[in-house]
Amino acid sequence: MTRVLLVAGKGGVGKTTVAAATALAAAREGLRTLVVSTDPAHSLTDALGLTGRTGQPREWRTAGDPLRVEAAPGHLDVLQIDTRARVDESWTTLRRTAGGLLAGAGVDPIVAEEIATVPGLEDVLSLLDVAAHAPGYDAVVVDCAPTAETLRLLALPEAVDRLVRRGLPVESRIMRLVAGQGLPPATVEALDALDDLCARLRSVRDLVSGPHAAVRLVTTPERVVLAETARARTTLALLGHHVEGVVVNRVAVGEQWPAALVARHREGLVAARDRFAALPVRHAPYADDEPVGAEALLALADVVLGGGDPLDLGAGRTALDIRDAGDRWLLDLPVPGASADDVDLAVTDDGALVVDLGPHRRVIELPAVLRRCEVEGASLDLTDGGQVLRVRFVPDEAQWSAGMTGTSGGS
Ligand SMILES: Nc1ncnc2c1ncn2[C@@H]1O[C@H](COP(=O)(O)OP(=O)(O)OP(=O)(O)O)[C@@H](O)[C@H]1O
Ligand SMILES: [Mg+2]
Repeated sequence: MTRVLLVAGKGGVGKTTVAAATALAAAREGLRTLVVSTDPAHSLTDALGLTGRTGQPREWRTAGDPLRVEAAPGHLDVLQIDTRARVDESWTTLRRTAGGLLAGAGVDPIVAEEIATVPGLEDVLSLLDVAAHAPGYDAVVVDCAPTAETLRLLALPEAVDRLVRRGLPVESRIMRLVAGQGLPPATVEALDALDDLCARLRSVRDLVSGPHAAVRLVTTPERVVLAETARARTTLALLGHHVEGVVVNRVAVGEQWPAALVARHREGLVAARDRFAALPVRHAPYADDEPVGAEALLALADVVLGGGDPLDLGAGRTALDIRDAGDRWLLDLPVPGASADDVDLAVTDDGALVVDLGPHRRVIELPAVLRRCEVEGASLDLTDGGQVLRVRFVPDEAQWSAGMTGTSGGS
């Protein structure tokens, strides 16, 4: 199974640099490695020292084709995806048909509109290219866009899937199964496009949040950046992603830097270790020269990785856990760093638990046994695996499908 590492963090902190360094180190370990960027600025090829004076990558072949990094100490390919240039066929079909035809197929017109206008869906589709190339490699390192965009991107596959399932009435699916009877061909085409899109979004989700995927967070030792990194970590956990470690980059150490800056960064590093106590926290010094090219990047990788597995800094995996506690059921959702004020939850009438954390949402399809229960309450609890949102369900045989049972977190 291909291992996937997403390198994420705030804008400008060193994501591209860390992604390139990590990929080189993985290649050096003998892993067939692909490093991917969706940044149209081509900074990944710049970091790898592949860009010529014209600004165009040397020996650059056609877009969407991985380019071999000859300077790598092993097999490393780089793939630069231009999201803007990508026109996805099923998406085009869907856009064209969305309003009228989905409504014609029985999709709630408001939902049809919602699906057609999900912002950034095109960007998700760029990840489909990654999914298509991944099977040919042992390791895929993704140089992500800045945090907010990445989080939106990672939340989309599930959100769209759910929108579709909510918006598409059972009857129209059954009608289509029965040889598309009664449905105009254009409607069938729209439904097929929708199905295809959902299947592919699911493959993206499996690739980036499956058991072989992890996120490495890059930050700098500044307070503001650390705060954003901490929020990103909480949101990633909510969305079901495994954060395997934190890299504090560009830490000023040594006499060439002003003493005040060195002191401030030292404090920042202490603050980072404090905030991310449950995670491995590594740091890279502020290099005198920009780390560009294989040699400089591998030197940076050696400092950050300390000789360990390039793709795993070693944080323990936590996961959604549902268990029988005798007279009730407990659902534990890891949400490190979340505060009770930000958490809201509800159960929908089709048996899903909706967890809102600030502007972010996770929808968890409840197993049958929990659909026959009522939410008794919820709290943020500290467990061996870190902080979890613990939702307590009590059996309610009379209630086979609950209505909107709103209850606030932190009870
Ligand atoms: N440890 C370091 N020491 C010195 N310079 C560094 C270090 N890490 C990264 N840089 C430099 O900092 C700049 C930003 O790094 P990079 O492009 O990797 O950030 P990024 O997070 O990918 O930015 P963006 O959000 O714009 O994509 C680059 O010029 C890079 O060479
Ligand atoms: Mg970058």
